[in-house]
Amino acid sequence: MQQDRLWNEWHPVSKADELLEDPKQVFVLGERVVIFRNEKGVHAFKDLCIHRGAALSLGKVKNGKLVCAYHAWEYDSDGTCVKIPALPCDRPIPRKARATVYHCEEYLGLIWVCLGDEPAPLVRYPEANMERYRTAICGPYDVKANAPRIIENFLDVSHLMFVHEGLLGDEDHAEVVDYDVKFIDNRFVTSKIPVYQPNADGRSKGGYSDYVYEILNPTTARFTKTTEGSDEEFTILVAVNQEDNEQTKVFMLLTRNYDLDQPDDPFIEFQDTIFYQDLDVVESQKPELLPLDLQAEMHLKSDALTIAYRRWLDELGVENGTIGVIEGKRNKRKKHVTQ
Ligand code: FES
Ligand code: CO
Repeated sequence: MQQDRLWNEWHPVSKADELLEDPKQVFVLGERVVIFRNEKGVHAFKDLCIHRGAALSLGKVKNGKLVCAYHAWEYDSDGTCVKIPALPCDRPIPRKARATVYHCEEYLGLIWVCLGDEPAPLVRYPEANMERYRTAICGPYDVKANAPRIIENFLDVSHLMFVHEGLLGDEDHAEVVDYDVKFIDNRFVTSKIPVYQPNADGRSKGGYSDYVYEILNPTTARFTKTTEGSDEEFTILVAVNQEDNEQTKVFMLLTRNYDLDQPDDPFIEFQDTIFYQDLDVVESQKPELLPLDLQAEMHLKSDALTIAYRRWLDELGVENGTIGVIEGKRNKRKKHVTQ
C-alpha cells in the first residue's frame, strides 16, 4: 500500500546532540511529534496530551517521565500515564490515559522516527562504523519543496557543471557519459560516472572524480566520490524528512577517509555553499510534486538515474511523496478509531 511505504520508513528529525534534557517538537509527514530522551534512550510520541490536547513538547522530562506542561500528567517511555496529580490517590489512573507512541531510534548521530506499525530496516551506512573514516553532519536545511524533488536534485549529475560551476563542475566539461543503473539488494546503484571538478570537496584539487550513486529508500540517497589512483573516498548520505506538504528538513552526513586529523568545519561550510546553490532551483520547480508520469517532462540518457527513481516511486506507489500519504493514512486511522 502506498501510504504504508513512507509511513513505515524512518525519517530523520533532529541531530542527536540537539536532543538533550528538554523534549522537542518535530514534524513527520504532517504529524506533530514530540521526541525526548531519558536514561532508557530516545522516544517519540504524538505531540498531544490525551487530557486536553496540549502539546507534550511544552512539558519537561522529570525522573525519566514526560510531564505535560498543562496539568502535569506524567507519561512513561512506553506511553503509559503513570501520574495524574489531580486524581485523588485512592483512584486508579484510567487505562485509556496513554500517549500514542511511535518508533524512535538514535542512529548515525541523528534521531529517526517511524510512524508506522511495521518499520522498514534502518538505512544501511557501513562507513559510520568503519575505522579510519570520519563523519560530519550537515544541516538540517529547511527547504520549501517536496522530498522527492530534493532527492532527485541530489541524484542529478548534469547540473553540477552549471549550478556548481567552478566547484563541482566545469561548463566546458558538461557532457555526461552513459552509465548503468542496477537494482541490487533493494537499492539502486550506478556504475562510476566521471565528472570533471575544479574543486571536488573544497580543497581546490581539480581533476576527474568518479561518482557512484545509490538510492536507498524514497527519501534517502548517497554517493561516493573517488579519484583514480587515489585511495581517498568522500561520501554524502542525504536523508530528507517531509515535515508536511510544503516543508522539508534535509540532513547530510559527510564521510571521508582522509584528512582525519583536520577539523570538519571546512567540509561542512563547503557543503553549505553547495546546498544553498541548489536551494533556489529546487524551490522553484513546478509542479511541486515530482511528476511520476514519464511523459510529463523531458528526459535524456544522462537522466537515467532520476528516471529510475521516478519509476521506482511509481512502482512503490509513493504518490509524489507526501500528500496522498498523509491524507490516506489519516482517513484510515480515523476509521480505525471509530470502529
Ligand atoms: Fe496535558 Fe492536561 S492537557 S495534563
Ligand atoms: Co546540486
